Amino acid sequence: MADEAHYDPLVDAHDNWRDKEHKLWLLEWDNVQRIMKPIVGSGGRVLELACGSGFYTYDILKWGASSVLAVDISSSMIQAAKDRPAAAAAGNNVSFLHADCGSQSVFPGAPFDVVFAAWLLSNAPDKAAMVNMFKTACVNLKPTGTFVAVTASASEDPKSYFDQEQKQTALLGLPVAREFVQDLEDGMSYRVNVRGPEGEDQFFVGYRLRKSVYESAAREAGFEKVTWIDLRQPEEFDKATDPSTIPPEIRKQLEYPDFGLLVLRK
Ligand SMILES: C[S@@+](CC[C@H](N)C(=O)[O-])C[C@H]1O[C@@H](n2cnc3c(N)ncnc32)[C@H](O)[C@@H]1O
Repeated sequence: MADEAHYDPLVDAHDNWRDKEHKLWLLEWDNVQRIMKPIVGSGGRVLELACGSGFYTYDILKWGASSVLAVDISSSMIQAAKDRPAAAAAGNNVSFLHADCGSQSVFPGAPFDVVFAAWLLSNAPDKAAMVNMFKTACVNLKPTGTFVAVTASASEDPKSYFDQEQKQTALLGLPVAREFVQDLEDGMSYRVNVRGPEGEDQFFVGYRLRKSVYESAAREAGFEKVTWIDLRQPEEFDKATDPSTIPPEIRKQLEYPDFGLLVLRK
């Protein structure tokens, strides 16, 4: 298995940082919802790769899925997802599997109508690892199915983009500290510093590969149609006549979004 232990001690810190109440996540969550709802339709069977502690898992059911199989490499993350209050209402419609999503394994119940992965691809340090993740999505998807992925913002010059994005984040004083680590052949690595349950500093590592690396990895894995979605402000702000009522986290994030949203078909 890939680096199973990496996320295991980070559950509380990860959840402090990915606090659903924080406006920081609204832009991502709202764009994901807008894309996923019509794709999940009424009753699609969904495979969620790298479910983590279930940030999206139970929402996918609310958006119309009949069932979700949620897979992660970290058993602690899966336990945290199982412990969410929404688990009781979801019952058997959500199930979990401890597995590597870069192994090209065919999971129970495959092929699925929809495969969804938030922040899986950003764990690939190079194109070969990313091809394996895309292949895992591909082998578990129906020929007419759709793969939706949330990942780090993708650009042809990840370091320059990262620097711009960091400036925006600094302006907002957000509780997110990302640090450049090093340039790599296919992009760069960075660390996300998070606060542990006792206030101690912890971190996890992510990768930002070039946009063209994403696209060629996806095609190599069997996805012919690769679309980057244009992000938009959450609908609830569309009618705002006074732009200052839109939270600054949203306005600034839209200038240099820290995530990208991909829709892929075979
Ligand atoms: C930043 S968290 C995101 C979790 C969740 N999708 C979310 O949006 O909050 C990344 C997750 O990817 C999982 N992960 C990393 N590499 C993986 C792999 N090869 N197979 C399965 N899960 C993996 C980690 O265990 C972690 O739970």
